[in-house]
Amino acid sequence: MNSTTDAFDHRFHAAAQRHERAWVFISVAMIAVLFIAAVYLVVHDYGVVAKTARIYADPNTPATLADFQGSGVKQTGPNSYSVYEMGRIWSWTPGTATPLTLPVGAHVTFYVTSGDVLHGFEIQGTSINLTAIPGVVGHVSYTFDKPGTYYIICNEYCGAGHQAMIGKIIITGRAHA
Ligand code: CUA
Repeated sequence: MNSTTDAFDHRFHAAAQRHERAWVFISVAMIAVLFIAAVYLVVHDYGVVAKTARIYADPNTPATLADFQGSGVKQTGPNSYSVYEMGRIWSWTPGTATPLTLPVGAHVTFYVTSGDVLHGFEIQGTSINLTAIPGVVGHVSYTFDKPGTYYIICNEYCGAGHQAMIGKIIITGRAHA
């Protein structure tokens, strides 16, 4: 070996290390950006992450709350509503006996609980899907931008009438041009 080769080797390794460091940094940064973007979209955009509003020591408490009596629908703004959904074997209230009727563009926060066993609160054609749990009131928000009939189904097996546990949401009117 002479000194010229050593100097070349040294420069070569130094350059290679710079490139490797840069690419390790770029790949880690890409993973970090994708991870943060995925979490952000799931939480903020789709609204599919149900935040647990309340957990009660007595599983029978939510059924006795004033919000879950009557129609279960409260207007909270110009076209904003709170809807208190009670799942029971085998119906959704509101939804099954009386369809939930709202105008197009309605921004709805659903507060969902169960009066007996586990049910799955899913609104077809939307991202809404959360478990109705006795003693727990979960909530999720959604804006109904398209008129039409939406079906609330139960996607958690809850006994003999499970497959008939269906509710209706009717969104009336025309979408804004
Ligand atoms: Cu309720 Cu299945």
